[in-house]
Amino acid sequence: MCGIIGILGKHEAAPILVEALKRLEYRGYDSSGIAAVKSDGSIDRRRAVGKLAELQDKLVFEPLEGKAGIGHTRWATHGEPTEKNAHPHSVGHVSVVHNGIIENFIDLRQELSMDGYKSRTDTDTETIAMVCSKFIDEGYEPIDAARKTLSKLNGSYAIAMLFEGHENFIFAARSGSPLAVGYGKNEMYLGSDALALMPLTNKISYLEEEDHAVLTREGVKIYDQKGNFVSRSVTYLNQSINAHDKLGFNHFMEKEIHEQPKALEKAIKSYLCDGETGQKINILEEVNFQNISKVILVACGTAYYACHVAKYWIEKIAKIQVEIDIASEFRYRKPPLARDSVAIFVSQSGETADTLAALRYCHGKVLKIISIVNVTTSSIARESDQILEIHAGPEIGVASTKAFTCQLAVLLLVTIKAACDKSEYSEKRLKATINELKNLPSSLGRYLENINSIKDVAYKLSTADDILFLGRGLMYPLALEGALKLKEISYIHAEGYASGELKHGPIALIDDTVPVIILAPSDELYEKSMSNMQEVIARKANVILVSDKDGIQSAGLNGQDTIEMPCIDPLLTPLLYALPVQLIAYFTAVYKGTDVDQPRNLAKSVTVE
Ligand code: F6R
Repeated sequence: MCGIIGILGKHEAAPILVEALKRLEYRGYDSSGIAAVKSDGSIDRRRAVGKLAELQDKLVFEPLEGKAGIGHTRWATHGEPTEKNAHPHSVGHVSVVHNGIIENFIDLRQELSMDGYKSRTDTDTETIAMVCSKFIDEGYEPIDAARKTLSKLNGSYAIAMLFEGHENFIFAARSGSPLAVGYGKNEMYLGSDALALMPLTNKISYLEEEDHAVLTREGVKIYDQKGNFVSRSVTYLNQSINAHDKLGFNHFMEKEIHEQPKALEKAIKSYLCDGETGQKINILEEVNFQNISKVILVACGTAYYACHVAKYWIEKIAKIQVEIDIASEFRYRKPPLARDSVAIFVSQSGETADTLAALRYCHGKVLKIISIVNVTTSSIARESDQILEIHAGPEIGVASTKAFTCQLAVLLLVTIKAACDKSEYSEKRLKATINELKNLPSSLGRYLENINSIKDVAYKLSTADDILFLGRGLMYPLALEGALKLKEISYIHAEGYASGELKHGPIALIDDTVPVIILAPSDELYEKSMSNMQEVIARKANVILVSDKDGIQSAGLNGQDTIEMPCIDPLLTPLLYALPVQLIAYFTAVYKGTDVDQPRNLAKSVTVE
């Protein structure tokens, strides 16, 4: 979603701000802007609708002067993506960029209008600048005015503010939206995302909830909610991570699909250790699942589908009841929770607003709150009792790929640990599974070397208007994930269904214009899936069967398309079948010519509910 950057330096800020905003593009945005305090003390700004190139074009004809600046990429919430609504919002003496939502902005607007302050935009953000400017008009010093402004705001925010006549400091604050301070040499930076700061500095501090900060060129002073001066720990970013290089691939999504073998190897290895009788799984050591009556799994989108797979795994293998829900429903459903349950929250970014709120609902109600995250410094990680890192590395493509398979790997390891605790998993089986898991990354790597059949299928799919994905058992959540991936990047309408559910309604959609992708490895549910496949073939659907060699041979197809998968332990099929599902979406989108890495309307990290 929206991105913030701030710089207080020795050089002209505009080019550095624009470069940093480019590193935030992956989060999804529809307009952008920058502002700076000029040497005469006035604040100037440039804003543009659309991609950053539009802003850059503007800056060629109207350069922006100033060494203290703030910048923003906006994902519209309140008000259309127009130049008027783009940040920074400048009112009177103040210019502000903001991530999050000010929930009481209508009340604030009414108050302000009675005092003669009229809003000129449709945004909630403008009210922050209006309130602060009014306090300055009333005689408050800028920093006091900014502090007083915070006390008037309800909702979530990460804020960076510039003040007329003050080119020596930037005010920053966070409540519910992340914000990091970066340390340079006689330069200081702000970023909503550590990745944006990476080439500028590797030394950062995250503001904590309700902190505010005053940055000068010499350093930063951070204050907590009560106004006490506090010190926040310094983190050194790993600069070898070159997250913004496509490394020869056409898109970040393509690169990240191909990174899965390495990412999975890292994720799996990090939870294995040497035991007395060989390698063992070392995860959630302090939880004894014998004493757990229920596992609650909550997430959004793709991360939710990972939870859906885990429900099948945990209930079948560890024989523990599992409740899954999408976070936006769970948080308001407010279900009763048993004290002897564990709640697991799965999130790549660790900043998804609904998942965070669902986690907060569970505080004090369950035995343990566990987060499965890619970003261990994120809000969700910080607020959980235990963090399980997925080790996927930065994911830049909006459509989640490697994070999904790494989430699955960690959830599978949790499942096996739970099954071992409950004596549902023998030593022999454990050894065999560990071996299978260790071989998995190379099997995935080999599979990715020959994916031409998927390109052919995708070419045909790219002209379809509607596509169905069908699966049973572990393949049902994969069917849902396939449909989500396809619609988000190719904009083709797609639905995922449990194969057995088809005749209860969706079969009415089937005709010869609707391709039906059937995910059916030759497992215990294969025969059932084949019956459902025949039902759609009988209605002239264009079937694409994704199965292993035996599965394809036994299907008795007559000219229909197939995607052949390697044979694998049935337990691991979701990790393998995630690849064709991702690649079908990827190549279909490429043939359609859509913006694969930054699809329309989507944001990478959904920090508003
Ligand atoms: C789909 C996708 C989204 C995310 C969802 C949750 O490709 O990426 O559905 O999975 O927005 O995001 P995180 O995992 O960051 O909580």
